[in-house]
Amino acid sequence: MTPRAQRSLARFRTLPAGEGDAPDIPADAANFADALLAGLRSDPKRISCKYFYDSEGSRLFEKVCGIPEYYPTRTELALLKAHAPEMTALIGAEAEIVEFGAGAGEKIRPLLDALERPRAYLPIDISGAYLRGIAARLTEEYPALDIRPIVADFTRTVVLPSASDARRVGFFPGSTIGNLAPQEAQQFLANAANMLKGGGLLIGVDLVKDPGVLHAAYNDPAGITAAFNKNLLVRANREAGANFELARFAHYAFYNPMQRRIEVYLVSNAAQRVTVCGRTVAFAEGEAIHTEWSYKYTVEDFRRLAASAGFVPRAVWCDAERLFSIHWLEAA
Ligand SMILES: C[S@@+](CC[C@H](N)C(=O)[O-])C[C@H]1O[C@@H](n2cnc3c(N)ncnc32)[C@H](O)[C@@H]1O
Repeated sequence: MTPRAQRSLARFRTLPAGEGDAPDIPADAANFADALLAGLRSDPKRISCKYFYDSEGSRLFEKVCGIPEYYPTRTELALLKAHAPEMTALIGAEAEIVEFGAGAGEKIRPLLDALERPRAYLPIDISGAYLRGIAARLTEEYPALDIRPIVADFTRTVVLPSASDARRVGFFPGSTIGNLAPQEAQQFLANAANMLKGGGLLIGVDLVKDPGVLHAAYNDPAGITAAFNKNLLVRANREAGANFELARFAHYAFYNPMQRRIEVYLVSNAAQRVTVCGRTVAFAEGEAIHTEWSYKYTVEDFRRLAASAGFVPRAVWCDAERLFSIHWLEAA
């Protein structure tokens, strides 16, 4: 058990009887074991989706992107390829590009190929080893470009290398913004608007659509999305001394049209007890751990959200089927 997890346990032990049953996830929980234990002791049980992404989680997400039913990746990539000249004209020459949640680093390529003398590329991701590997590959392919990977949680203050005089532009593809609840998304955008003053943000946003299409995208028959979701339990067993039996939990994802979001859970298929960080966590039969939201927006709703965070919404690109959107937001 990590010292941080031990401190967590000590914290729970000193809580008065009754108050330790449903603690909030502590705001400063930088460590997976701490956050996991706190989340499993909350009611309802939950864990932030940012913990999906250890190296194996990042590799599984790459596989998710290739699932036929998972339309966001291919649709957004096609939009980037088709409109790179307009997008890079808006970004401008000699810009410094900061990418939030860079993942496999595929979506930056059409922009890098079209940008005029980019000064630097700063990919940020929480999945450290994976990010370094991706950055090394891009460095081989773009030897003239200054590439500086930053392992960080973009929902917190991220320290960037000291500001150059280059125009700074953000890139946030993948509709990762949808994993944040609207209030958190507004907070993220407000921070980004501050960081990117004088520049802008190019951001991919998944659109409200036929619930059947959304449902299929998160419930592939090959079970790749289920494996991605269950990787949280694999990670818990490895990093938090847990003993989850994967077969005793089911992947459960559905579209909630009232909230306009996909909701993802791991559901216990029996009454059971699991050990996490040396503590026992009890599950009732059918009890769920919430693992992810993926909010969907209309174009207008997202423009309103961006404006409320201090951006001036400008160009929007959508595919012909209106599955996905990419927005250019100016940080005035
Ligand atoms: C939905 S994937 C998108 C990946 C890629 N941008 C794409 O469009 O395919 C989210 C990415 O953001 C990263 N990520 C998620 N939450 C994060 C956080 N709080 N801070 C930094 N990176 C995060 C994950 O590691 C992952 O690479």
